[in-house]
Order: sequence, then structure tokens, then C-alpha cells
Amino acid sequence: MKPQPSPLRKRRVHSWPVRICHWINLLAMIGMVMSGWGIYNADPIFAFTFPQNTTLGGWLGGNIAWHLAVMWLLAANALFYILWSFFSGHFRRDFLPFSPGSVWRDTVRALTFKLPHKLGQYNAVQKLMYSGVLVLGVLLLLSGLSIWKPVQFSGLVWLFGGFDIARYVHFFAMSGVMLFVIIHVLMVLLVPKTFVAMLTGGKKISTEESADE
Ligand code: HEM
Repeated sequence: MKPQPSPLRKRRVHSWPVRICHWINLLAMIGMVMSGWGIYNADPIFAFTFPQNTTLGGWLGGNIAWHLAVMWLLAANALFYILWSFFSGHFRRDFLPFSPGSVWRDTVRALTFKLPHKLGQYNAVQKLMYSGVLVLGVLLLLSGLSIWKPVQFSGLVWLFGGFDIARYVHFFAMSGVMLFVIIHVLMVLLVPKTFVAMLTGGKKISTEESADE
């Protein structure tokens, strides 16, 4: 039998769960990173500390209190976003597929300012970066659990190769997210209309049928 084309329906460039989760995530990330830098400063693993005015909480107890409080907001938001994106087909439709070839092609196009941007359609670099930042988030969660409750999560600590290595993994995953944010914001600055669409939802576009808005 001939395969039938998927039915088309209208949806916004960014549906409301994506927008709400994205901006809550940004706020939570700022809280996590700033309080995390304060915790790091109390016992640095490298030969530098973060400036006091970029930390949140005032002192180690305050840093930890903020980190653990904001963690719950981040976790609830991430859980909702991941479940919704999975079951609505958002991940499958918008984050996949991509390949080394398509990422290389779009990277070259982006660096030579020849990459066209169609609202509501991610290029291969974006697909790789958004999938990659999710993986970094999982790594942050697992390494964070290991250094928060090393006794209860001793199996995880063992998987990381020990408490100290879990601390390095946590630090480098945070650095990876920071690198992501720098490139991500530069890409948004190149195509400012994407920012407006991430705030308002943008206009309605035709898309494959899904449970999405
Ligand atoms: C920790 C910080 C951030 C993370 C982890 C993050 C992550 C993401 C992810 C995963 C997406 C894809 C969303 C989806 O379709 O489900 C996205 C899209 C987007 N983000 Fe961020 N983001 C961050 C910060 C920012 C900031 C600071 C800005 C504003 C300058 C921004 C502006 C945007 C825009 C405009 C899009 C849509 C891009 C497009 O339509 O081509 N993000 N972000």
C-alpha cells in the first residue's frame, strides 16, 4: 500500500509549553550557576575563584540553600518539558534528524553567514546543540546527585570513578552549558526575530499532525 502523507495542521512557531519552560529554565539556570559558583569558591578545584558579585547566597550556607531550592524548580520544569516534548512529538519532529554531514554543512554556512533561518525549523547546528545541552543537563543531574548525597547514591559515585571525579564532571558540564549559552545567544543575535517568537509564540505555521498546540 502507498504510504499516506502525514496530515498537516497549524501550530505556533513555539508552543506555550516550550516558551514557558524555556524562560523558567533560564531563570533557574542563572540561580543554579550563581549559587554553584559560590559553593565552588568555598573549596575551589582550580587555581581561580569566581568574583563574589557573580555568586548568589552571600556565604556558603546561603549558596547551598539557594542551589538546593532552585534545583527543585529546575527539576520540575525540566521534567514537565521532557515529558511534554516526548509525548507531543516535539523532540522527534524538531530535534531530529541530524548527522555529522548536515552539522558540518550548516556550521560552514553559519560561519559564512549563508545559513537561511526559517522560523519554526531548526538547522542541524541547533538540533545538535539542543540535544547536546539536554545530555549536559542529565550529566549535571547525575554528577550533582553524586556530590550532594554520596552515601545514598554511592553506585553513581562509583560509576563516575569517585567523588572527586564527579565534582570535575559537574564543573565541566556547567562549563559546557556556559559555552552553549554563549553560542546560543550569538545565534539569536544574528536572527533577532527568533527571540520575538520565543516570547510571543510567533505566527501559526503548517506542521505535521501531533498533539502539539
Ligand atoms: C541556560 C540557558 C539556556 C538554555 C539551556 C537554552 C536552551 C534552549 C533550547 C533547548 C531551545 C530549543 C527549545 C525547544 O524547541 O524545545 C532554545 C531555543 C531558543 N532560545 Fe534558548 N536557552 C538558554 C538561554 C537563552 C537566552 C539567554 C536567550 C535569549 C537571548 C535564548 C533564546 C532562545 C531563542 C530565541 C530560541 C528559539 C530559537 C529559534 O527559533 O531558532 N535562550 N533554547
